[in-house]
Amino acid sequence: MQENTNVLFTNAFEEDIYNGLTKYPKQLSSKYFYDANGDKLFQDIMKMPEYYLTDCEFSILEKYKEEISALFYKHEQAFSFIELGAGDGKKTKILLEYFSHKKIDFKYQPIDISQNALDLLEKSLNQELPNVTVEKLQGSYFDALNKAHIQNDVKKIILFLGSNIGNMLHHEAIDFLNSIGDYMHSEDLFLVGFDLKKNPQTILDAYNDPTGITAAFNKNILLRINTSLDANFNLDAFKHWETYNPETGTAKSYLVSTKDQEVTLKNLDLKIEFKAWETIHTEVSQKYDDQTVEHIAKSAGLEIVTQFSDEKTYYKNYIFRKQSSNI
Ligand code: AVJ
Repeated sequence: MQENTNVLFTNAFEEDIYNGLTKYPKQLSSKYFYDANGDKLFQDIMKMPEYYLTDCEFSILEKYKEEISALFYKHEQAFSFIELGAGDGKKTKILLEYFSHKKIDFKYQPIDISQNALDLLEKSLNQELPNVTVEKLQGSYFDALNKAHIQNDVKKIILFLGSNIGNMLHHEAIDFLNSIGDYMHSEDLFLVGFDLKKNPQTILDAYNDPTGITAAFNKNILLRINTSLDANFNLDAFKHWETYNPETGTAKSYLVSTKDQEVTLKNLDLKIEFKAWETIHTEVSQKYDDQTVEHIAKSAGLEIVTQFSDEKTYYKNYIFRKQSSNI
């Protein structure tokens, strides 16, 4: 995997950046978009008229919060409400507010890669919903899940909203859901947001805004490398490019080098060459249909409890439980 065995990495970020830029074709993980600047840019994206996902999920949760809560709080059993990739919690707050109002007994455990996002979320919850117990956990999904002293005797409701699952290719999504299943008991539930296949133009527009916010969001990873690894990426010499394959439902983002250029990453003692029009693949945003969700869930040992859709059928929230093994 790693060609230069003399390089010592201080953290996973350094190692991932090194590996991503020294392989061909080059790639960088979208999980590194999210620092204070990236969080802000993503919030701007969620406010864009073209980025329909947030509004769709918001409307689903608003419309079905009573039904969802009834499923979660069956037999009035207290639960841990664990959210993977909580971000600013804008959509989750619909449920948190409703739970709080209905005096539902739960504890909120948001997980996020961005400490900045978690700190802001905790602060806003303390103000808006002071009765909600918040236990934040910083890290990538499984690091944080492993850190969480997840009590085995407490019911778990796990949330994975915002089409965050879309960052995974199908085989990765299956592995991921399967690993989440390992944390679940028979009565635990898992709520996941899936963005659906639709008019390809609508999808391209959501990732190709004319004001360039999405481009800046993707380029933030270069900015972050410049700052934290003492590098000299010229952001103007890369063009953001989006593709969508309507057959597979996979949207992919790239940063394309517009010229021959060399970039130095001093902290990694690394020089990277780009040929004109060479790509860095930065993000996958997978779109689904019912068959695919069913296939992925089944392959991961989960079964569908129910699903909710918005009025335009742009987006769906599925609730899964662990497949019962007594066949
Ligand atoms: C946060 C991963 C769901 O893929 O739609 C938005 C991130 N990227 N615009 C998505 C994103 C470009 C977003 N997710």
